[in-house]
Amino acid sequence: MYNYSANTQYIGKQFLYLTTCHSTNDLAKTLNSSGLCKSGMVIFAENQTKGRGQQGTSWVSEPGQNLTFSIVLRLSQLPLASQFLFNKALSIHLLGFFRTYFSNPPDTFHIKWPNDVYLNGKKIAGLLLENSLSRGYISSSVVGIGLNVNQQTFEFPTASSLSIAFHRTIDRYELLNSLLQYLDENLSLNFESLNTAEIQTIHKVYDATLWGLHQQRWYQAAADPFIATLKGVDEQGLLILETNEGIERFEIKSVQFLNHPVD
Ligand code: BTN
Repeated sequence: MYNYSANTQYIGKQFLYLTTCHSTNDLAKTLNSSGLCKSGMVIFAENQTKGRGQQGTSWVSEPGQNLTFSIVLRLSQLPLASQFLFNKALSIHLLGFFRTYFSNPPDTFHIKWPNDVYLNGKKIAGLLLENSLSRGYISSSVVGIGLNVNQQTFEFPTASSLSIAFHRTIDRYELLNSLLQYLDENLSLNFESLNTAEIQTIHKVYDATLWGLHQQRWYQAAADPFIATLKGVDEQGLLILETNEGIERFEIKSVQFLNHPVD
């Protein structure tokens, strides 16, 4: 059983530990909309019976082996247009945490667009951001985080865990405490007060850590697979690829990375 012991000012000050629940994101949304939680509250479950992933997929995680939790964040009037900026900021902080915690060469961990964390080319973490809107602004967000920590086998060949990569069992609760502390120290929620230079830094850091950046890879959109070079992600969150036709932009889910390399 986890005892909350992270030394944070904000994130995780309220902490709900559950052995099981349907989805921590669903529960966090209910608590948030009923006003029953403070901003920064963390809802953690050892097991989710209906864990959800991006784009209506499910998130399957072996009970007691990984970390599955959600953080409720109230934001003061984040413009809708900054939605992807918020996604970028969270992604780079999650990545920054892994790079710091495991103090590995920086190119082992990457962000796979839009917000997965890849380790040595395999997915070890995913983010599910669910924003609430009020009068044209994002007033709050439930940030669902799924980390593959000690699980040893996966249904999909593109998924892996920290334990597989580092050949050892990881202390999940120590990892969680450190992650909450890192987010507490690094994640600014005053997005409306970020200046242009700070915003540009978020875009730049996100692009620089993208998995597959400047590499030629196979992609699949509506028709046949094609080879393209990843150039970056624009401010709206569209993937920028250079193909034989020139520069093209793709929306989330309209294009897929294929795993086999270009010969
Ligand atoms: C993805 O990569 O598809 C996003 C996965 C997000 C999974 C987490 S686990 C905790 C939280 N509760 C959920 O139901 N989903 C998120």
